[in-house]
Amino acid sequence: MNLYDRIPNNVNLSEDKKLQRALEKWLPNYIDWWREMGPDGFQEKDVWLRTAVDVGSEGWAHFDYVKMPDYRWGIFLEPPVPDAKVGFGDNCGKPVYQEVPGEFRNALRRIIVTQGDTEPASVEQQRQLGKTCPSLYDMRNLFQVNVEEGRHLWAMVYLLHGYFGRDGRDEADALLERRSGNPDKPRILEAFNQPCDDWLNFFAFTMFTDRDGKYQLSALAESGFEPLARTCQFMLTEEAHHMFVGDTGLGRVVRRTAQLMKEGNVRELGGIPLEIIQKYINFWFSYSLDLFGGEISSNSADFFAAGLKGRYKEQDQYTDHSAANDQFTMMVVEDGQLKPREVPLRNALNEVLRTEYVKDCEKGLARWNKVLHSAGMAERLYLPNPRFHRHVGEYAGHYFDIHGSLISKEQFEQHKAEWLPTIQDREYVRSLMHPVTEPGKIANWIAPPAAGIKGKPFEFEYVRL
Ligand SMILES: [Fe+2]
Ligand SMILES: [Fe+2]
Repeated sequence: MNLYDRIPNNVNLSEDKKLQRALEKWLPNYIDWWREMGPDGFQEKDVWLRTAVDVGSEGWAHFDYVKMPDYRWGIFLEPPVPDAKVGFGDNCGKPVYQEVPGEFRNALRRIIVTQGDTEPASVEQQRQLGKTCPSLYDMRNLFQVNVEEGRHLWAMVYLLHGYFGRDGRDEADALLERRSGNPDKPRILEAFNQPCDDWLNFFAFTMFTDRDGKYQLSALAESGFEPLARTCQFMLTEEAHHMFVGDTGLGRVVRRTAQLMKEGNVRELGGIPLEIIQKYINFWFSYSLDLFGGEISSNSADFFAAGLKGRYKEQDQYTDHSAANDQFTMMVVEDGQLKPREVPLRNALNEVLRTEYVKDCEKGLARWNKVLHSAGMAERLYLPNPRFHRHVGEYAGHYFDIHGSLISKEQFEQHKAEWLPTIQDREYVRSLMHPVTEPGKIANWIAPPAAGIKGKPFEFEYVRL
């Protein structure tokens, strides 16, 4: 580990002068971007943050107060496995690639740029949230997520600079030029142009959208392009905390809402009614499903064949790593009706990955419903059908109700306000967002966490204001 270099790294950056120079040139632009688009109003505050200092599963992070612009963003890859082999596809069993296979150069660059673009985008989406935090604990978690998304950007920029020459450097520059929600230079994926301007949005985003990241990174963590695999493996270590923030954050909102339901009218008591929570789930879940790409995709087939992007836990869950002969049946819209269609499995791998993601999301719903159950409530939260409210793939351009039945555009418009947050819902949620910054205090609309961070109590001064 070279922790004290200008750019901390474990890739012997000082031995590759050309790459080191290129990244050191990118560094001040990154810092400018962070100062302009990072958390607004808190850049000079001491925040109790973890910083990656090692890649081992034990003790990989150091916790201390740091001002965010001084955060030590670095390039960390998991150590290589000796004699690693491509784990799937047509080249299964051959040595892993240390360089980008020529015919996949453009496609792979696109994958890395698209992943890379999401990282700064989420920081931009969340940059005003510090001002309305429900507690110092939550504020610290927000900033932790933000600085780590910044490091994930570094991870992707390292690959672009290191393996894609001139175009890679141009793409790395462009990652700092696009802006979330800006009509002239938007971020690449739609979920990352949606405003994330209240804490219910933030928790739903980290629950559902960061979880998409987990599945994309997991599929790439077994890539036959070894530098990509090792980069993504380490990113997953950090990503786990982001989903924890979303999962427990929404769980705490549900817990508080259940308490207030017993006391009377949730709205009058200043809480968030379950039906609004449900609408936020519907919104972020459906946008996050789009991130997996089309249900039927020749790209996914090509990537799998080349050994570049596999399935979730390809090595652990599957024995047939060629997936060449199987079929997959999915529902598609044909002649105005939903009908089953059989496609070669390799063309359905986006859908296969999406299905794994949905299963994972369901576990979160089960946890929140347990909270409702223990509070003696009969109401339950649920995931909408994956066809609902889609903008990418087979179901885009058609209309489905929350259960996945095909309906007309008029019917959709008629019921939309029952399924998706309305302007009034959003305004109501925003009206609750007053900052609570006294250590140990918590906003009225959310329950405190079960425990603090890294053995510190909830009352700890996680941010010195
Ligand atoms: Fe990330
Ligand atoms: Fe994340």
